[in-house]
Amino acid sequence: MNKEELVKLADKARENSYCPYSNYSVGAALLTKEGKVYTGCNIENASYPVGICAERTAFCKAVSEGEREFSAIAIAGGPKGHAPEDAYPCGLCRQFMNEFTDASDFEVLVVHSDMSFSTHKLYELLPHSFGPHSLDNTKNLE
Ligand code: THU
Repeated sequence: MNKEELVKLADKARENSYCPYSNYSVGAALLTKEGKVYTGCNIENASYPVGICAERTAFCKAVSEGEREFSAIAIAGGPKGHAPEDAYPCGLCRQFMNEFTDASDFEVLVVHSDMSFSTHKLYELLPHSFGPHSLDNTKNLE
């Protein structure tokens, strides 16, 4: 699975987006370190805050199947039925990803309208993060 293939899967996942309120469809494709892919889309709700983003849908699918090691996520989002337009992950999704990844090597691929993409390390998108290590009490014993 190369990055171009992952990007195509993210764009394909937009097709299942349930976004009747925003009409903004997002697809994500999450790659495990073993090479398996979990896709996700945004799923909105009449009670707006209940909706979930595509990235967290993909992570929830993977984590609930026992996956814990991830290398990259591709994200394609934009107005429904139109080309993707640089849908950077929201703050909640950045924090959610940080829980299950090594932010210094996990890559976030953001798809542009011509299907080219930018690659970012998660730590660039979420610097000085609060994560599992912040709550590791054993470090105080060292
Ligand atoms: N959305 C995502 O799926 N991922 C993001 O990182 C940003 C926003 C969704 C949520 C909502 O369904 C729609 O895009 C408009 O905000």
